[in-house]
Amino acid sequence: MNRLLLLNGPNLNMLGKREPDVYGKITLKALEEQLTAYVEEKQWKLDVFQSNHEGELIDQIHASEGKYRGIIFNPGGYTHTSVALRDAISSVNVPVIEVHLSNVYRRESFRHQSLLAPVCRGQISGLGAKGYFLAARAFMEEDERKDD
Ligand code: DQA
Repeated sequence: MNRLLLLNGPNLNMLGKREPDVYGKITLKALEEQLTAYVEEKQWKLDVFQSNHEGELIDQIHASEGKYRGIIFNPGGYTHTSVALRDAISSVNVPVIEVHLSNVYRRESFRHQSLLAPVCRGQISGLGAKGYFLAARAFMEEDERKDD
């Protein structure tokens, strides 16, 4: 069965409690459940993983090779700092869509640069939790086209 990986980085375990005016009221658990149900409707599977630790996120990316059709990744603050995560994404053949709940380009200038976006398939920023669903949809539709 086709699988996707939902990867959330630091502080995203605080979703729902953390700055709800910026990141929304949905909890990570609810998001994970809703996204799982969404992909299951299309007979896909979703694995979920969240970590506040850069190395654990890197390990997940390495382990994704050959296992997933795509990774939906909100790298949190590491987006703007992590050469190591960028190198991890470059080291595998699994496409990654970078997702941000907030519109990072409307915020502080240090959030305007993503070190990861240049090695990702694409980026969705500012659409709230909907961005995760759109990323999943993009991967699933891309795969349908491959079968044509
Ligand atoms: C974020 C944006 C980042 O700048 C921030 O550090 C986060 C969340 C977002 O989802 O909007 O932790 O990735």
